[in-house]
Amino acid sequence: MQITVVGLGYVGAVAAAVLSRSGHDVTGIDTDAAKIDAFSSGSCPFYEPGLSDLLEAGIASGNLRFALPSVGTTFNADTAIICVGTPTQAYGGTDLSQVYGALDWIKMHLHARTTVVMKSTVPPGTGERLMREELQDTDLQYVFNPEFLREGRALEDWLHPDRIVLGGDPRVTETLRSTLYSEIDAPALLTDITSAEMIKYAANAFLPTKISFINEMANICDRVGACIDDVARGIGMDSRIGQAFLKAGLGYGGSCFPKDTRALEFLSSVKGCSSALLSAVIEVNNRQRLLPIQALQSQFTSLKGVKVALLGLAFKPETDDVREAPALDIARLLVELGAEVRAYDPKARETARRILPDAVQIKKTAQEALHGSHAAILATEWEEFVRLPWSDIAGKMLEPRYVFDGRNALDRAILLDLGFTYRGVGRGSLG
Ligand code: UGA
Repeated sequence: MQITVVGLGYVGAVAAAVLSRSGHDVTGIDTDAAKIDAFSSGSCPFYEPGLSDLLEAGIASGNLRFALPSVGTTFNADTAIICVGTPTQAYGGTDLSQVYGALDWIKMHLHARTTVVMKSTVPPGTGERLMREELQDTDLQYVFNPEFLREGRALEDWLHPDRIVLGGDPRVTETLRSTLYSEIDAPALLTDITSAEMIKYAANAFLPTKISFINEMANICDRVGACIDDVARGIGMDSRIGQAFLKAGLGYGGSCFPKDTRALEFLSSVKGCSSALLSAVIEVNNRQRLLPIQALQSQFTSLKGVKVALLGLAFKPETDDVREAPALDIARLLVELGAEVRAYDPKARETARRILPDAVQIKKTAQEALHGSHAAILATEWEEFVRLPWSDIAGKMLEPRYVFDGRNALDRAILLDLGFTYRGVGRGSLG
């Protein structure tokens, strides 16, 4: 197939790379010239394991190229995949301007019977409206095909998804199932456009609900002296509940869950059925990232001059993405309270530097951040932090060697043995 991918963020870049590997002829389009230059030379402007290699291979095979959407260039494609951003507006609605821009470009540059595959997350009802208001005088086919890729595992998730969801005219969705996804061995759910749009939002609301639920349970565990690790395992052994997404910690971040839960909450209010559940999920999540601040404030009477090592800046391991990362709020609050913040992340130092206040020191190694600090906050569970030589670090940190393990990643018993003051999330610390 000849495929044009419009918008080269995480989803678009992964789509372009993987589809070119499957033998499709792929052109990736983006308005950002620096991004086009980077991709064209085979380098990836963000960190996603395995993606650079795949991009290089695609370019070398001749199946993959990148271009600016310049007027005058000729593009051939039977399928156009839209992967542009759909950010939240200040009033709570979703900004669809990039989606409109992409559709206008497709109408001008691609041939009349191109199938438009929308992968950008758009509020339920959008596809039907676009077909009514933007595509009514065209022969373009329109399908909504949500993505369920996790950053850091995007290639694996593309190649081995739990399901493929396609919403649209059954003749078009069946064809896409057997062309675009011919190599993927996964069940397909073919449905109407609005239901497919709703599936994306419902999935991105349900998973955060699990996270906020387990965090709520963790906070109760702390008060009653129970251990959330065992509680999560114990409830997860019920196959109706399952083990996934029951890791207590500082809550969810990233470019998807925070944005999509807020967008669905807003949409439900606009539609007159405001969602008390979603509002609570969001509130619990906002509160959760304040735990280390509260813990440090009760440990140290004042945080003025307290040296705090902040381990992890990315919103989760295996990514350099710091969007809505709990660590950023924690760093800013610590600075406001007068603490000296020494942060470290294996991959997100540059992305974080661009947005953190200058007062936050960003160190080159975890040890540099930890040595000479009174306290440490583990905000992202990078494997590197679990493997640190904690026995050596114990002698190099200052009393009271306070460790707030915001992801329950460290071995509590070992750290206590080594003389650290340890606090996890829901590991019975406040009983
Ligand atoms: C999420 C979904 O998992 C993908 O299916 C979806 O495609 C994507 O959003 C999207 O809509 O584009 P992602 O944001 O990459 O993917 O991250 P996840 O791995 O799902 O983690 C999200 C957040 O939840 C992280 O901050 C993580 O630390 C947190 N989390 C996850 C927990 O706090 N506890 C858990 O048990 C699991």
